[in-house]
Amino acid sequence: MPTQQSEPLPLGDTIQRYGLVSRILHWSMAALLLWQFLGMGLKLTLGRTPLVSFFTGSHQMVGTVLFVLILARVIWTIANRRHRPAHGDGLLGLAARAGHMALYLVMLIVPAAAILRAYGSERVFAPFGFQIFPAQQPEIGWMVGIGDALHGELGWLMLALIAGHVVMVGLHQAMWRDGTLQRMAGRPRG
Ligand code: HEM
Repeated sequence: MPTQQSEPLPLGDTIQRYGLVSRILHWSMAALLLWQFLGMGLKLTLGRTPLVSFFTGSHQMVGTVLFVLILARVIWTIANRRHRPAHGDGLLGLAARAGHMALYLVMLIVPAAAILRAYGSERVFAPFGFQIFPAQQPEIGWMVGIGDALHGELGWLMLALIAGHVVMVGLHQAMWRDGTLQRMAGRPRG
């Protein structure tokens, strides 16, 4: 007789754990964000090298895919909001909720600002090899201005928030042992 442990994950979230869709979105975004920050971090430290070009050459394409995944994640989060794991009580719960909100906000703004800048730019936007936005003649200054002002700065803020998120999951695992990581990464239970 199959045990509860071998039951397949449901698509949607439950109060006990995140479902298959949330997990796929979470871990694919984590991998792509790692790619983005690795590339930009290397660019900052090494300057222009073939290795850096290998990463940065895909930055716009990966960033655009991330934007689509983030939109899907926000929609899925709202659709599942009444039946997903709670953030917990008290000050820690409040901090977790605020941290997640901040992460969602920057995950939306960072690629959106870059895409707005790409739309207003004098250069064709073709991250997948075909044109998505034509070149503007002249450029749309306010769009480029918003992208320049927000994209890089908030991008690094996102990295800081992600680092905080990872540290908090580590603390939950090591100190409180409350199964926080298992809700997104563990085997299905209950
Ligand atoms: C969630 C997705 C993205 C993340 C996390 C991200 C992150 C970053 C970071 C950290 C930088 C370095 C800023 C610096 O040099 O101080 C950067 C630069 C850049 N990004 Fe992105 N990016 C994303 C999406 C995109 C998208 C969708 C585009 C294009 C539409 C794009 C275009 C650029 C460009 C052209 C630069 C170099 C100029 C600049 O610093 O603004 N990025 N990105």
